[in-house]
Order: sequence, then structure tokens, then C-alpha cells
Amino acid sequence: MIRLGILGSGSGSNMQAILDAIAAGGLDAEIALVLSDIPNAYILDRAARAGLPTGLINCRDFKSNFPEEAQHETAEALRQSEVELVCLAGFMRLLRAPLLQAFTRRIINIHPSLLPSFPGLHAWTQAVEAGATESGCSVHYVDAGMDTGPVISQATVPVLPDDTPESLHARIQIEEHKIYPAAIAEVAASLKPD
Ligand code: GAR
Repeated sequence: MIRLGILGSGSGSNMQAILDAIAAGGLDAEIALVLSDIPNAYILDRAARAGLPTGLINCRDFKSNFPEEAQHETAEALRQSEVELVCLAGFMRLLRAPLLQAFTRRIINIHPSLLPSFPGLHAWTQAVEAGATESGCSVHYVDAGMDTGPVISQATVPVLPDDTPESLHARIQIEEHKIYPAAIAEVAASLKPD
């Protein structure tokens, strides 16, 4: 049983998929802590309703920066909860040294494109605007770059001629909810001592 820490800024549907996989017996894990940088993010409501410990990451007035002090505090909170693997689930700030060093090779992310295509924000809009005929999602290790760490798994979906960014994102999310729990199980198995 691996102890997970989840960081999210949005609706938390990927966290829900992780919870569902645990409940269905497909993932031997426990969510030990859910942290968000957005006080009213729906992920915190979902977590509280599921009886999970939650916390706020205080990024003060910075819109997208993740201040170093807040990264230290986050690392400390994750350590105190004895988190073994950190899963970013719609977390919209770039991680830097304090947090990356505290959890080397133990931070993963789900991104809504076939990396290395369309890193960064609103990847589904980027795919539609670029006229891509296929897109998808990627689970990858997190490094200091923008969605640049080694890819663990991917799923592909078609981009249909009449797709809007929203319809494409909805199709991608269906796949995210399958590959993220599966990738977590794979990474957890790789972390177990022989
Ligand atoms: C997901 O589609 C995830 O891939 C994306 O945010 C959404 C969060 O949804 N992440 C990024 O774009 C990170 N660069 P959720 O809150 O419902 O899980």
C-alpha cells in the first residue's frame, strides 16, 4: 500500500478516478493528503467529502509562481503525512528545487496532450487550434521544466473535425481517468524494495 499526496488546482476528477480505482481494488494505495493552491477549488470539496485530510498551499498573491517558501511548506506537509508518491492532478504551478529535491523521482503529473506536443496551459485548445488530427494524455515524471519529464504512459484520442476545445478535453479526460491510476500502480511497483 503506497501513500499518495495529491496536488490540484481544479475540479479534481483525476483525484476522483484515483479514489475509484482504490475502491475497486485496482490500486493498492491510500490518499494521505490533498493540497491545493486555490482555496475554493472543487478538488478540496471532493476530498473533504471523501473524508481525506486537506490543506492549502499559500502562494500569497502570486498568480502562477510557486514561491520557494511555499514549496518548503508543501514538502514538509507531505513528509509529515508520510507521503511516498506525489501525484499532480490539475496542479497549475511549476515545481522547483525545494519540492523536487524532497521527492526525487517521486512526483508525477497527468497532462492533457501527447507530450512532447502541446506542453503548458490549455493543451486541448492548443491541439484544436493547431489542426491536430489526434491528441491524448500523458503521465510523466516531473522535473523543473514545463511538462518535460520522462513519459510513463500515454493514451491517444482522435481530434474530430467539429471538436471544440471543450469536447476534445472531455474525450481526453475519459482516458486520463484510466491511465493515471494505472500509471500510479506501475510507479508504486517500481518503488517497492526487492
Ligand atoms: C486535467 O485535464 C489535467 O490533465 C490538466 O488539468 C485537468 C485537471 O482536471 N492538467 C494540466 O493541464 C497540467 N498542465 P481535474 O481537476 O478534473 O483532474
